[in-house]
Amino acid sequence: MLGWYEDHIFPKVLDWATRPLNRDRQHLISQAQGRVLEIGVGNGANFPFYAKSAVEIHGIEPGEALLAEARKFASTAPHPERFHLINAGAEKLPWPDHHFDTVIACLVFCTIPDYQAAAAEVFRVLKPGGALLVLEHVAHKKPGWRRTQRIIEPLWTPLACGCHLSRDSKTVFSDAGFDVSGLNQWQHPKLPTFAGYMLSGRALRPV
Ligand SMILES: C[S@@+](CC[C@H](N)C(=O)[O-])C[C@H]1O[C@@H](n2cnc3c(N)ncnc32)[C@H](O)[C@@H]1O
Repeated sequence: MLGWYEDHIFPKVLDWATRPLNRDRQHLISQAQGRVLEIGVGNGANFPFYAKSAVEIHGIEPGEALLAEARKFASTAPHPERFHLINAGAEKLPWPDHHFDTVIACLVFCTIPDYQAAAAEVFRVLKPGGALLVLEHVAHKKPGWRRTQRIIEPLWTPLACGCHLSRDSKTVFSDAGFDVSGLNQWQHPKLPTFAGYMLSGRALRPV
């Protein structure tokens, strides 16, 4: 039953719930260049936004049903031959060190079970000077809202297929070695406060 919910209902809810983020997705994804890795592609919501500068686009997704949808969607995206999608988790990436120019983390570090390991892997596979492009929802800056997020989380996480509300992804990226001075935290005007405190921008792997 849970598998059926995750495969058929949750992707539709996610599409609907993240529609207010479409402009933010476009802004983020259009900056990807060279050989790109997108972590946890879901059903491929970001695919239409890749510009020509993204020459090779590798995507990982551990959910089989989502991956099948992403593959279908990629075949309708501009220059579909650029897309290479595989079943994998971000905690152990099947690529050598310094392989990618850009990595995309879009609404995924909230969900990856071992997100510290995933940040270390992303750092490893990025070239020195490469960019991790980030659009994530994170723990709110105000202690009162952080408390609310922690109260809601035990109900939210199973309903939202593993998504957490109170993660501090900026610190995790910084601990992994990234220069996080290009990341901003802000409240998205079109999302509810408990799930709409955003972390976005570019984290760089120092040269
Ligand atoms: C909230 S959805 C976002 C999907 C997509 N990135 C988007 O922007 O629409 C979270 C995604 O993280 C994926 N995920 C879960 N565990 C993961 C892991 N260990 N490594 C990579 N992705 C994972 C889920 O399968 C799901 O597709």
